[in-house]
Amino acid sequence: MQNKKSNSTTNSQKGKQSKDNSSTASMQSSQLMKLFEEELKDIYWAEKALTKAIPKMIKNATSEDLIDALENHLEETEQQIVRVEQVFEFLGKKAVAKKCEAMEGLIKEAVSIMEECEEGAMCDAGIISAGQKIEHYEIASYGTLCQFAETLGLEEAVTLLAATLDEEKAADEKLSEVAMNAINVEAAHQDA
Ligand SMILES: [Fe+2]
Ligand SMILES: [Fe+2]
Repeated sequence: MQNKKSNSTTNSQKGKQSKDNSSTASMQSSQLMKLFEEELKDIYWAEKALTKAIPKMIKNATSEDLIDALENHLEETEQQIVRVEQVFEFLGKKAVAKKCEAMEGLIKEAVSIMEECEEGAMCDAGIISAGQKIEHYEIASYGTLCQFAETLGLEEAVTLLAATLDEEKAADEKLSEVAMNAINVEAAHQDA
């Protein structure tokens, strides 16, 4: 096999190798923008999947407090989808969802917990546990998205994403509260 190499121009190109700072910065910024868009597609898929998963959790929940918390967060989730679409619009991009393997796994885990538990306090405790893992994933995602948007100077996107981040944190806290108030205690009693 032939393996031809052309060495004729390598020396003369050496002087052109150094890039100025501004072009390096703009390259980094376009890479960050790409990453930002990828993360946005991921969370868009995740939020849409949650609008189908949360109703199943509501159906399997028993505690009124838990049902209220989930119903409230389902409404918020629908609004969060609109916000992600607004961020896409702001970027001048079409809203595209890209399958989020992590969220798919977390939802599968929630479904299998609900299938394994009988309705009641134990099932509620399982729903809370799965729900909190989901919220923590979302908190991590929106935290990153906010940071990226800030670095990229996308102020409108920061405002939209920060609003959702606050809702995810509040949803997580609400689930902790519901768990502490009743469910875990009841589940322990049932266990006997
Ligand atoms: Fe969400
Ligand atoms: Fe959430």
